[in-house]
Amino acid sequence: MNIRPRINRWTISRRNLNFSSDIKSSLVQAHFVVSGSGVDEPIQSMPGINRQSVDVLCKTIASDMALGIKAHMLFAVVDHHQKDPTASKASDSSMPLQQAVAKLKAEYGGEIVIMTDVCLCTATDHGHCGIVHNHQIDNDLTIPELCKIALSHAEAGADYVSASDMMDGRVKAIRATLEESGHVNTGILSYSVKYASSFYGPFRDAASSSPSFGDRGSHQMDIRSGYDEAILEAVSDEGEGADIIMVKPALTYLDVVRQVADAVARPVAVYNVSGEYSMVMSSTDEESRPNLVREIFHSFKRAGADIIVSYHTRAAFVGNWLE
Ligand code: PBG
Repeated sequence: MNIRPRINRWTISRRNLNFSSDIKSSLVQAHFVVSGSGVDEPIQSMPGINRQSVDVLCKTIASDMALGIKAHMLFAVVDHHQKDPTASKASDSSMPLQQAVAKLKAEYGGEIVIMTDVCLCTATDHGHCGIVHNHQIDNDLTIPELCKIALSHAEAGADYVSASDMMDGRVKAIRATLEESGHVNTGILSYSVKYASSFYGPFRDAASSSPSFGDRGSHQMDIRSGYDEAILEAVSDEGEGADIIMVKPALTYLDVVRQVADAVARPVAVYNVSGEYSMVMSSTDEESRPNLVREIFHSFKRAGADIIVSYHTRAAFVGNWLE
């Protein structure tokens, strides 16, 4: 089976995230997980967002859960000495990300929705999203590695593995891997429509995932491409078994979000990315920020987003910006 609509209905928190129309239920908080203990390191370009070791992360998520933030997206930040050409550490079950997922699922079960980023870039020594062969990112050599990473996240208990790599055919391969291994209730969030954007700069600092040579132009979408290609990517991922279709970045592609939302039957997510966050943080103060962020969130909803991944999520809950 490659289409399982029950995946999005499996727990109360998945249903609230996917099907509730209010903004608060749509929000997802992103986190960066590092090795060690007691680590709570601010990210310069993203004020308010820290890199955290598993112990600190679990406390942060406990307070988020108490505030009502039920959906969380986790990114692994891999130590430099552990990176290699094939991102082998990304699928290691003893790594902090997998450990964090297992702990959080043991604690919160179906009350939490955990999404985990599936890509090679944070664990490759060259920083690319795939296996580099003859100086090119080889699509078909990368797929099995992505499947290994996704499987390790599913084994840890992730609700959705989030494929952010933009290789062709990976949703189908990951779905098959999940089926074969019995993880029939694990969903796939696909970064279906992901542009080669300049708005990812702060994230790449945070996750130390900048490519050491070249760029992401051979796999991420051309910023000049029109609606046809966006719809092609979204519809093909839906057919391959994606449970959630993501458009990224958000603010500069709201027109694309509307086109995609009209073209697919699955829930649509937007990623309010690091560069968008940093722009808002540096151009507003505590007083002006709530209304501005609220206006941005409404634009996502109006464009057709069911789910909003945003670094503003926690502040919006803490400050009751959405009451
Ligand atoms: C990993 C990945 C990236 C982001 C999410 N997953 C970076 C990239 O593609 O270079 C960007 C997120 C953000 O900017 O907030 N491939």
